[in-house]
Amino acid sequence: MIETGLQNKVVIVTGAAAGIGRATARRFAQEGCRVASWDITEAEPEAGGFFQKVDVSKAASVEAAIEEVTARWGAIHVLVNNAGILRDGQLVKFKDGAIAGMMSDEQFDAVIGVNLRGVFLVTRAVAARMIPAGGGVILSASSVVGLYGNFGQTNYVAAKSGLIGMTRVWARELGKYHIRVNAVAPGFIATDMVKSIPEKIRQSMLDHTPLGRMGQPEDIANAYVWLASDAASFITGTVLSVDGGVVTGT
Ligand code: NAI
Repeated sequence: MIETGLQNKVVIVTGAAAGIGRATARRFAQEGCRVASWDITEAEPEAGGFFQKVDVSKAASVEAAIEEVTARWGAIHVLVNNAGILRDGQLVKFKDGAIAGMMSDEQFDAVIGVNLRGVFLVTRAVAARMIPAGGGVILSASSVVGLYGNFGQTNYVAAKSGLIGMTRVWARELGKYHIRVNAVAPGFIATDMVKSIPEKIRQSMLDHTPLGRMGQPEDIANAYVWLASDAASFITGTVLSVDGGVVTGT
């Protein structure tokens, strides 16, 4: 039996009001962690933790929230960059011989702002505290589409694959400070985010998932907890797929 080493650790989970983030905050709390739950939407804190209204795409909002965490608990041991949004649209939609639509600047900037810049802003601020404190673990939500691409998701895929690049850079830069940096690539997980996907596409994704089911938020939460634990103490710079074996493009 490997000790998780997570008892009493301070954990920040972004996007903790719903879906995977909420399940992740709960799982870390069950491990005896003190959890700061961040979201733009008000939510209940976990037992022994507290909720903070934070927009991860705004540096001042992030900085103020981190100050509050360190004032209260002194250190940050684990960061889970989970907050994410979708604003889908084809790059150029061509129908009946005419251009029928395009991904707008606003769609592109909104998704990059939260899913990529947000991860950069929060990680920079947290790493600046973890280095002098002697270490930590940084985890981020990529996606199966960040590995393989997806129709209608230029903005989202750019952010999710960009995040994998940042993870690899940070693993190199921060390893000597005993900070491990990894990404998780969820497949098809049953949350509000996937409710907007048309039924036909949902069924086709299930058909391409060898385990034959959608993942649950807890499947991803368990992966974060394991990656943050001492059981994963030699793992950094990697992307862990948690996707039921989904095979895209077939
Ligand atoms: P969700 O939409 O259920 O929850 C996302 C949470 O992030 C919400 O509570 C929302 O209020 C919060 N949020 C949005 N913008 C924010 C901001 N600027 N600052 C702080 N919080 C903000 O999403 P879900 O499905 O739980 O996904 C969580 C993460 O996992 C996302 O990064 C998503 O891209 C990723 N993911 C999800 C998959 C799925 O199938 N559900 C598949 C692959 C990746």
